[in-house]
Amino acid sequence: MTPHNEAKKGDYAETILLPGDPLRAKWIAENFFENAKLVNRVRNCLGYTGYWKGQRVSVQATGMGQPSAAIYIHELLETYAAKNLIRVGTCGGLSKKVKLRDVIIAMSATTDSSMNDCFLPYHYAPFADWDLLEIAVRLAKSRGYKTHVASVVSSDIFYVPNGVKSYGELPNHDVLAVEMEAAALYTLAKRFNARALTICTISDCLVSGEQIGAKERQTSLKNMVELALDSALELYGSEG
Ligand code: HPA
Repeated sequence: MTPHNEAKKGDYAETILLPGDPLRAKWIAENFFENAKLVNRVRNCLGYTGYWKGQRVSVQATGMGQPSAAIYIHELLETYAAKNLIRVGTCGGLSKKVKLRDVIIAMSATTDSSMNDCFLPYHYAPFADWDLLEIAVRLAKSRGYKTHVASVVSSDIFYVPNGVKSYGELPNHDVLAVEMEAAALYTLAKRFNARALTICTISDCLVSGEQIGAKERQTSLKNMVELALDSALELYGSEG
């Protein structure tokens, strides 16, 4: 048990999907897992464990933003010995190179957050696990998803004052999308010797102002969840 999690040691699988929204965690458990069991409901930040194609897997909501996500992720790594953490979520497109509905697989995560400055005062460059990244990119392309392997910016601010201009030169340095959690996830995973990946669909485009509707968010989430679960499955297969 931790201050934010009532699960017992062993209640989580080694592979854990990380959506932001607790109701998305519930939806994932109910629609993808066999034999899903609720393992955490502290603060309604729901976590479940079940099976995907015979492999034990979990899902845990993180809330929005790096301070919230880092609490859940730290505890999953330290107390519950998580080994493969895959964030599934949405992001905002920052460049004309990316379009609504495209899949972004985040190779690295730039951030405006000062979280790492306290412990890693070197402008640390948070990056994904190569093996998970390679598998997910290959599977995404084979499924026909329009996929970009790029850097994202994990921002602490959702309501930026000047739209895409608020991100300055980042889009010109191939930082193609903004979200709010990947940098904390990647940093913590490395600290605890675990694997991490972020898979996001572009739900809104800061260049054109377009957004996808609720129904499409659901379809994109379905594709990402299957991609994340199958990537973890292949990783297990390759590790024997
Ligand atoms: N900003 C930050 N996070 C996001 C956005 C955004 O525009 N869209 C989806 N997640």
